Amino acid sequence: MDAPDSTAPTAPRDPTGTVARSDDGRSFTIRDASGTPFIAGSLVVLDSDAGRQLALVESRSDDAPALARGRLLGVLDGDELDTRSSHPFESATVRAADTITVDALHRTTGARIEVGTNLTAPGGPARLLPHRFNRHTFWCGQSGSGKTYALGVVLEQLIAHTALPVVVFDPNSDFVRLGEVAPGATGPTADALAQRDIRVLRAKGEPGSTLRARFIEMSLPSKAAVLRLDPIIDRDEYNTLVRMQDVLKAGELDEVLPMLTAATSEAGPHPLAQRVENLGVLDWSVWAQGDPAVTDIVDERPDATVLDLGGFSTPEQQLVVALSLLDDLWERREERRPVLLVIDEAHNLCSPQLDSPLAVAVRERLVQIAAEGRKFGLWLLLSTQRPSKVHPGIISQCDNLALMKMTSPLDLDELGTYFGYAPASLLARSPWFRQGEALFAGGFVPAPSLVKMNARITPEGGSDVGVPLR
Ligand SMILES: Nc1ncnc2c1ncn2[C@@H]1O[C@H](COP(=O)(O)OP(=O)(O)OP(=O)(O)O)[C@@H](O)[C@H]1O
Ligand SMILES: [Mg+2]
Repeated sequence: MDAPDSTAPTAPRDPTGTVARSDDGRSFTIRDASGTPFIAGSLVVLDSDAGRQLALVESRSDDAPALARGRLLGVLDGDELDTRSSHPFESATVRAADTITVDALHRTTGARIEVGTNLTAPGGPARLLPHRFNRHTFWCGQSGSGKTYALGVVLEQLIAHTALPVVVFDPNSDFVRLGEVAPGATGPTADALAQRDIRVLRAKGEPGSTLRARFIEMSLPSKAAVLRLDPIIDRDEYNTLVRMQDVLKAGELDEVLPMLTAATSEAGPHPLAQRVENLGVLDWSVWAQGDPAVTDIVDERPDATVLDLGGFSTPEQQLVVALSLLDDLWERREERRPVLLVIDEAHNLCSPQLDSPLAVAVRERLVQIAAEGRKFGLWLLLSTQRPSKVHPGIISQCDNLALMKMTSPLDLDELGTYFGYAPASLLARSPWFRQGEALFAGGFVPAPSLVKMNARITPEGGSDVGVPLR
């Protein structure tokens, strides 16, 4: 990494003789870490009367003597690590953790899916805890930092090595080739991926793989949102919709509307019919008619379902797909059938700035799932460019953070306020990340880590377009 890291050693010195102290048995300090390789993010072994303990350096001051602080991760016994205990000590020698110790950390915590290499010594594979995707995850980084690519790396691993069904809301057709293994890709992940049931639903898909929703199955408030109806401002039309609920269950909108118009033909078209016509709702290709709806397909819980939201002629139709699916999952939450909802470009669905009735309905449902969905197995993974692009009620519920390159100090400060579990000095490294480098923090990683992501095994749907050169 080319970070002008203020905590980097100035004059190298032999780290032997560096001593650490822990008064509370949870955190530790090194009074003088100047010249040692122990920078923020380093894993160290502290040897004292209390035994050998594994620890993470979380910060180191700029001034001399450089004060380093960190947290104790557990007690080492041979090659085994006990993360449920740690002890205070007055004086411990400090040495860099070796790969065997890091492996013990991964084994003990269940960090089984490999997503990259650790950028901090001793290097080696960076692994995540698949079982901790049962929390919400926030994935952030500026445009081009490599979020979508890196997300693909993690999804490949999750789909290949867990039985957790994944639904990807894919606005830019980036994940539409998730079911294909790139030529030349071999190994257990590639083999496992080839076995998985991965469905890609598209606006203009082949029969059986179209991305569709069913108006009649939407809840009354969601139908009203599609029609931009307010229960008070538009009370007549809203009331007609309320009274039509039974009729609407019997047929799709295009079948019901002529009945409505016929019933009121003497007075001209019913205002509700006019509204539907004016909005062009019947021309939307999103309606299922005889095809399976997205809710039917996700209900089968394929290993992965990619919703290619990009192909619709209007953004409202993406929102209809999202709303009908999120409503359905929420409605049936008591079934407790887990699903990971991955939303790339999450600002499309949960920005605080969205104000159309449909977008507000989608966002409110996501706020609810963020707050209460966890215990029902509805887990979110949201990716976006800036924290301010996602509703605070959603970000504040995220227990896992992946941060890629982000240069804006304001955005980094904001992240610091939400993600107290990510050490500030590691957050501060983000402006110097290269593309494909990330900070992982929170429950889904054994300890906060700086990682260079692995290469994808499946082809990207849409990589950046290059400038044509002569
Ligand atoms: N680790 C990587 N290795 C190789 N290429 C990468 C890597 N990460 C990203 N890229 C390439 O860089 C380009 C931008 O990456 P990506 O689309 O993932 O960025 P992003 O953060 O999602 O940007 P945006 O916010 O604009 O969607 C893509 O063409 C992608 O192929
Ligand atoms: Mg992207």
